Amino acid sequence: MITMYLLASVGGVFFSFGLFLAIKEMWLFHRVKTLNSEQKKANITQLLYKVGLARGILIDKYAITKTGSRWDGFKSFTVIGKVKESDGVYSFLLQPNDQQILASFFPGQHVMVQADIEGQCQTISRAYSLSDSPEKLEHYRITVKKQLAPSRKPDVPSGIMSTYLVDQVEVGQQLKLSAPSGHFCLNVNQHHPLVLIAGGIGITPFISMINAVINANSERTIWLFYSTQTPHTRVMFEHLQHSCKRYKNLHVVMCYSAATSKWLDENEQQPTDSRLSSHSGRITLALLKQYLPSNEGEFFVCGTKQMMAQMQENLLLWQVNQENIHFEVVHLTAGTLRKTIQTSVTTENSIICCARSGKSLKWHDSDEGTSILSLAEFNGIFIRNSCRSGECGMCRTKIKSGEVLHLVANEETMKVKGTCLPCVAVPNSQEVTLDI
Ligand SMILES: Cc1cc2nc3c(=O)[nH]c(=O)nc-3n(C[C@H](O)[C@H](O)[C@H](O)COP(=O)(O)OP(=O)(O)OC[C@H]3O[C@@H](n4cnc5c(N)ncnc54)[C@H](O)[C@@H]3O)c2cc1C
Ligand code: FES
Repeated sequence: MITMYLLASVGGVFFSFGLFLAIKEMWLFHRVKTLNSEQKKANITQLLYKVGLARGILIDKYAITKTGSRWDGFKSFTVIGKVKESDGVYSFLLQPNDQQILASFFPGQHVMVQADIEGQCQTISRAYSLSDSPEKLEHYRITVKKQLAPSRKPDVPSGIMSTYLVDQVEVGQQLKLSAPSGHFCLNVNQHHPLVLIAGGIGITPFISMINAVINANSERTIWLFYSTQTPHTRVMFEHLQHSCKRYKNLHVVMCYSAATSKWLDENEQQPTDSRLSSHSGRITLALLKQYLPSNEGEFFVCGTKQMMAQMQENLLLWQVNQENIHFEVVHLTAGTLRKTIQTSVTTENSIICCARSGKSLKWHDSDEGTSILSLAEFNGIFIRNSCRSGECGMCRTKIKSGEVLHLVANEETMKVKGTCLPCVAVPNSQEVTLDI
């Protein structure tokens, strides 16, 4: 009788515990269902981890590691490391002041960095890709290049945030960071070949992707085409060399746009690894075809200026499936990007009329880094913004007359007729009047 009673009690305890786990799991899945698509993408890893915990197992398939929760807005971080990568390029290691484990992210995602910078009348925030894989969640790493004045406007000041970070921010100082976000990211669990095409500082999300694939013990083939001016301007090259040694499926093709073959022969040590090669010149379609066995695979392109425009043209010419091409512009250059988009209007010298402030701003297609948002800021007009990459919708502004062109196509830029996202918009008529 006593034995039966004991067995029933133990059974009851197990049943209650099982019921508790089932309810907890249902609640977690309900949370996944009620998130919007952006939140889903960003939170799914954490939720799967929690579901795994509720089941008392770790879901190996998703390579889940312990991860902290996301946060709204901005959270304070301390710079715990500053490392020079090349002239004017520094990596920053950022640890949260609350010492909590950080939210995980998908390789390729970025954070917004916010700072109050002396001489600026508003808080400045800019996007920076996370430049390491998501396993080390005690700190995040970003790698920042100081943005100099455009060559045709040498008298304007260099970039506000990048100059502040590179020249003034040191170990021990505080910065504010948003939680990671962004659509330019990699699913580490897929297996088809990965082709990464980087221009300049566009290498940063790819370091995160390469590290993540290697750490996931994947067999995936990776091709990295990395364009930079000279061996002096490349960043994290030793790390790439080391990664080639460690991971037999990684191929790195360095392209030096401002170094001749003769100079490279005389000054560069010949790579000892056959999976690491150097070229003089930019990344061309011919070069891609020389190395890649076919046009199949997932293509990620991240860079600046002509490279973005040329790559889009080249990959489509090679009939790469458009669904497999992903772009991220780290530096919008309206003039060059516009060439890839058919427009009937010449907008050089267009006028942006700002209805609220009464100011008229003159547009130059060739201005480096210009979007309507930057032009407005350079002229003292503040538009509320966050991501500056057409993703968050915060800068949405009413168009009173005229037309604009969005330089990126996504859910945010396509929705709400009669409005635009100035952070990724350029004028597309001789005059545009905005509610700013
Ligand atoms: C998703 C994403 C990820 C990114 N990741 C990285 C990264 O990993 N690393 C990185 O370094 N960058 C990255 N960037 C770029 C970064 O967000 C900033 O855009 C960059 O650092 C420049 O910001 P800034 O405040 O220094 O320059 P800004 O102050 O915005 O100036 C931009 C340019 O305009 C010029 N300028 C200033 N005044 C004028 C004027 N009156 N007329 C015309 N031009 C003028 C400046 O000299 C500068 O060249 C990323 C961007 C995005 C969208
Ligand atoms: S600032 Fe985020 S969409 Fe423009």
